[in-house]
Amino acid sequence: MKFEKIQAPKGVREYLPPESQAFEWVREQLISPARLAGYQLMELPVFEETNLFSRGVGESTDVVTKEMYTFEDRGGRSLTLRPEGTAGVMRAVIEQNLDRGQLPIKVWYSGQYFRAERPQAGRYRQFYQVGIEAIGVDDPAIDAEVISVAYQGFKKIGLKNFTLQITSLGDSASRSAHRVDLLKYYDRLSLDEATRARAELNPLRLFDDKRPEMVAAMSNAPLLLNYLSKEAAANFDKVQRYLKELKINFEINPRMVRGLDYYTGTTFEFSHADLGAQSGIGGGGRYDGLMELLGGQPLSGIGFGLGVDRALLAAIAENVLPSQNFISDLFLIPLGEEAKVTALRMADQLRQQGISTELAFGDRSLKAAMKAADKSGARFVIVLGDTEIAGGEVELKRMEDGTVTSVKIAQLPVELQSLLSANPIVSRK
Ligand code: HAM
Repeated sequence: MKFEKIQAPKGVREYLPPESQAFEWVREQLISPARLAGYQLMELPVFEETNLFSRGVGESTDVVTKEMYTFEDRGGRSLTLRPEGTAGVMRAVIEQNLDRGQLPIKVWYSGQYFRAERPQAGRYRQFYQVGIEAIGVDDPAIDAEVISVAYQGFKKIGLKNFTLQITSLGDSASRSAHRVDLLKYYDRLSLDEATRARAELNPLRLFDDKRPEMVAAMSNAPLLLNYLSKEAAANFDKVQRYLKELKINFEINPRMVRGLDYYTGTTFEFSHADLGAQSGIGGGGRYDGLMELLGGQPLSGIGFGLGVDRALLAAIAENVLPSQNFISDLFLIPLGEEAKVTALRMADQLRQQGISTELAFGDRSLKAAMKAADKSGARFVIVLGDTEIAGGEVELKRMEDGTVTSVKIAQLPVELQSLLSANPIVSRK
């Protein structure tokens, strides 16, 4: 009987070798600036009570109305696979009383997120984010820090073709003043029922409507940026001043509306020029009311989520992946049982010194083992037989140009270290 093959669910993104090495590297570049700025890891469940997202992310959003993976567990509870990270962080902060300790709480996270979107290049149903949140201090300097941590992550990957757009959704006084005029403006439009219902839940949502007739209808809509209270405007000016000090270029986009309802104050988005329709490589902003809405104190926070899948696509498009990082330093081929024992020991020692070492397994012929070594892309190869063990010396072959150096086995870690640092950029791919 022949069994049918099973496929991965539609739209999920998975990473297998060798591509997974590039994925891992990109994710690490995005995380490291957060660590350097004192953000600490938070590991959270991938599913939460459905209420957390419907209340936290907002009933007017596509994420909540159309894209959540919601299911009932065996106890009849409604659970949802996390579509984003901020609501879960807030739930944990409140539940574990972190908001009663030192403020701001600064955390980073990374992992899978789930949205039932129509899959296409750069848009997946399971995708990966790196995010940070800084909770409990309302200071424009933190807004600038959060934006710069995201910016540094993209820079560390080596990306150049990306831009940053920012705006401010102001404080509640600004939004109330704007809302009055925006609703008056909507009264003059003939909106269908569903659109009117969305506008009632969040009047700003219609700025995000991509239908051509709605884009046209919204072209003269009043802009929130023109309604900022004195305090909110001063705050936004400071954020801009700090970004300029940090030499981070940005554009102000007063029509930018993020896809989640919790935003207030500074909001921002990074887009990459080479990614087509799914150009958003990261975004975030401040959220004044979220903690209170989820049953906690009225503390503000700010954070971002960066799309690791899209950052990887951008790195490929800009050809900035450092392929030499993804290959082993040494491939060791033992010939015979005695050599195998020695090779295992040598590999163990070399790895402890930080030299990445692969072994040939399976007692294949020397020719087959050399082929495997070549395919692996390793920078150096050693063949270890009885003669080499008896003489305590091996021939170290540099695969890039075939150069061979004789090295005493005892000296191997030191010799290899110096050869590797003398030729740091040897890419055979
Ligand atoms: P978001 O803008 O919904 O924000 O998502 C952040 C990033 O995740 C996007 O810029 C994009 O790169 C990536 N992304 C989103 N959906 C998909 C998808 N279907 N496929 C591939 N990549 C995707 C948030 O999630 C907020 N929690 C960010 C935040 C943190 N705001 C404040 N704190």
